[in-house]
Amino acid sequence: MDVPWWRDAIVYEIYVRSFSDASGDGVGDLAGVRARLPYLRDLGVDAVWLTPFYTSPMADGGYDVADYRDVDPLFGTLGDFEALVADAHGLGLRVIVDIVPNHSSDRHPWFRAGLRERYVFREGGETPPNNWQSTFGGPAWTRVADGQWYLHLFAPGQPDFNWRDPAVHAEFLDILRFWLDRGVDGFRIDVAMGLYKAEGLPDVEDQSFAAVSPVWGQPEVHEVYRQWRKVLDSYPGERMAVGEVWTDDPVDLARYVRPDELQQSFNFAWLQAPWSAEAFRKVIDDTLATVPFATWVLSNHDVVRHRTRYEVGAPGAGLNRAKAAFLTMLMLPGSTYLYQGEELGLPEVEDLPPEARQDPVFFQSGGKLPGRDGCRVPLPWTAVGASLGFSPDGARPWLPQPPAFAQLSAEAQTGHPASTLEFYRRALALRRDLVRSLPYTLEWMDSPPGALFFTRGPVTCVLNCGSDSVSLPSHESVLMASGPFEDGLLPPGTAAWLRRR
Ligand code: NOJ
Repeated sequence: MDVPWWRDAIVYEIYVRSFSDASGDGVGDLAGVRARLPYLRDLGVDAVWLTPFYTSPMADGGYDVADYRDVDPLFGTLGDFEALVADAHGLGLRVIVDIVPNHSSDRHPWFRAGLRERYVFREGGETPPNNWQSTFGGPAWTRVADGQWYLHLFAPGQPDFNWRDPAVHAEFLDILRFWLDRGVDGFRIDVAMGLYKAEGLPDVEDQSFAAVSPVWGQPEVHEVYRQWRKVLDSYPGERMAVGEVWTDDPVDLARYVRPDELQQSFNFAWLQAPWSAEAFRKVIDDTLATVPFATWVLSNHDVVRHRTRYEVGAPGAGLNRAKAAFLTMLMLPGSTYLYQGEELGLPEVEDLPPEARQDPVFFQSGGKLPGRDGCRVPLPWTAVGASLGFSPDGARPWLPQPPAFAQLSAEAQTGHPASTLEFYRRALALRRDLVRSLPYTLEWMDSPPGALFFTRGPVTCVLNCGSDSVSLPSHESVLMASGPFEDGLLPPGTAAWLRRR
């Protein structure tokens, strides 16, 4: 059967600033990623997604791009990128890069040259042209010296492009080709439901991400992805794109993954579901019924790490639940996106001091929202050393690591069968062996309240979200479990893969 590589792929998100620092300036970089590729091969992932490493003043951690065709000196050089891609491919890993088409940096040459037709400039007055709020807090408009206002749905340093200008289309088609020519296997599209804004820019009642509103999800955006798909398909090797589409309605999600548009979009409903068998089952059913190729994701660089989210109302249960959710997710039809550090069981770092914080969300909300720094703390690689192996000796990481990270480091966990890291490695290796025998569908089985049982080919997957242990369905053997059984029963916060009879 001819299955594209991305359909069942395990993709590992590398938040480049926080993964590994080779240069010694306390910020992760491409050479750091390159040096750790064997770790990712051994972990058992199929692809990496690199967050933006392009030239940027870093008003939003690199999601404010000043030059889409170059590498910021903070992260290395174009040569470093090319070497990284060559090494990754040599190790059998694909490379997906981020593309940021909704907005640029205010340091982008077009913005600096005053090419206002390529951005969203409006006359206003003393007040902004409409009531839109920035996703990070405060008005989505900033006034320039001559009195006009420009739109920025994120930070003021991220002016939104005007996609009604043909020059913007041509520019992004060229940027796609630039990176495809350098061998990338795909793109992660930032704010994929953005780009177009409703004509007339009417006021909105609801300021939140809504799949379709004057701010997000305009129908015109789909023509952009149809064009992009043609470019992807014109290259050999099944190049792909995955869209960042925030919606809780799978029908909206499906609009982005029609056969002539993007291959995938993130399934944030899975990430947003509470710890509940009922909620999980609904997301699984809705997803499989509406989206041709499903994806599953529990954490990324914008949300509280799932280990910590699952502690809500259940202090101490987070890690077990996180491992159980991971095991369940791996057995669902489709592709899984992992976030760096989840394989170490890292928690959200919730007590970063205000003076350490860097996320514009913290500043634009006047400190009311903590922002996203807590899931971006540099990874611990070794159990000792000033930066736990993140930077060469002597350098201070850009966000402080808590002491608890030492015991969670890759070094401290390697070789310990009970560690989260070895559990991830075993699960990913076993899934790799199994995946070809799994049909792209699942069947639900009767299960006790609070639990989920489903079968896929030769495997039965069981998950207990309830508060009592449950009996296992009939099976031949246990392939893998996220924790020990108790007297043959599946305890709360535990999942397992069973070989069917
Ligand atoms: C989504 C990215 O994941 C996030 O980190 C960024 O702040 C916004 N898009 C704006 O680019």
